[in-house]
Amino acid sequence: MATKKSAIRVAKRLDEVGFSDIVQVRNKVMELRASGVAVHAFHGGEPFFETPEAVKFAMIRALVENKTKYAPSSGIPALREALAQKLQAKNKIHATVDEVLITAGGAHALYAAFQAVLDPGDDMLLFSPYWTPIRDMVTGAGARPMLVPTATARRNGLTKTLEQFSTPHTRAIYYNTPQNPSGVVFSRAEAEEVAAFAIKHDLIVIADEAYEDLVYEGEHFSIASLPGMAERTISTYTFSKTYGMTGWRIGYAVAKEPFMAALRKLVLYSVNGVSTATQWAALEALTIPESVIESRREEYRTRRDVLVHGLNELGLECEPPAGAFYAFPRVTKIHKDSRRVATTLLDKAHVATVPGVVFGAQGEGHVRFGYAVPINAIEAGLEALRKFIK
Ligand SMILES: Cc1ncc(COP(=O)(O)O)c(C=O)c1O
Repeated sequence: MATKKSAIRVAKRLDEVGFSDIVQVRNKVMELRASGVAVHAFHGGEPFFETPEAVKFAMIRALVENKTKYAPSSGIPALREALAQKLQAKNKIHATVDEVLITAGGAHALYAAFQAVLDPGDDMLLFSPYWTPIRDMVTGAGARPMLVPTATARRNGLTKTLEQFSTPHTRAIYYNTPQNPSGVVFSRAEAEEVAAFAIKHDLIVIADEAYEDLVYEGEHFSIASLPGMAERTISTYTFSKTYGMTGWRIGYAVAKEPFMAALRKLVLYSVNGVSTATQWAALEALTIPESVIESRREEYRTRRDVLVHGLNELGLECEPPAGAFYAFPRVTKIHKDSRRVATTLLDKAHVATVPGVVFGAQGEGHVRFGYAVPINAIEAGLEALRKFIK
């Protein structure tokens, strides 16, 4: 007689879904700090500056004005209207108010995008190394991530390499620029190539533009602005990185039908909309002048240059990343296993990094340094590395 399976088990679709390795590094750093060790923290991905005062006061004002009731689950019209204008002016994406959806951060927009597009059995092309949660979001939707090595693709041709990793089940491409963790910024010509590939093979593109304001070399270019792409692209954005608002949990997705209706349902049944006062605060963030964003970008550039110069001096080869706020040096000089390198650096030099392999097999041999930290923290971290590496 067949034995009945216990009910005390989780749904199978979560079997292949991991829990962030980066959280494990964070926990270890907290433990070390609690035991009195001063850690040089390069493992994070949060802006070094605080949320602007005007944004905080806008939240307080919203609360005082009793903007505390349910908002439309897709977002307050004033914010969606302002974002439609921003998308038109800055990203050259002609979105209507109804094509903008407010989400609980970029992560939520991406989660909804994968859920809206992927069926079990589908394959998803993923440039690798990739931001770690993406793989789990893809497998959580029942699809198979097909890792496309970014460096090889850029060297040998994007079309040829994408072709190589495509199958009859390929449904979509995850297109992140500027990239986490490599700092790669795809050029307009590369966007055109990916777009032509998507159109030729009738694929959907999920464009992750979380770091759109952090480009030091080249320009940020939104793939959805290309002819024929708006209808097959879901673009995702966040207030986290540009405005120092990681803890506020607000971002947005841009898409046309039929995807927008699906995304709306997913937001409705997951969080039923982002907190109302947070949305009013985000509206205020959009009034921050471009010059402020630009001067922060210059501060990041200085940090990048100090870190990359120091790493290269130590023999940890590192190209200056063109965008985002991460350096991704080769560390095989220390050991070929990046987990072992990250553990050694943390234990011996008290320098916290993230092992490259957690960003996909193509990240092995590297570790990620986040440089969204004060300059003196970068200098102190480099000094600790010098003592350790010599
Ligand atoms: C590539 C990338 N996309 C999206 C996000 C989402 O950020 P959030 O959920 O804070 O908006 C992040 C955050 O680290 C990221 O690195």
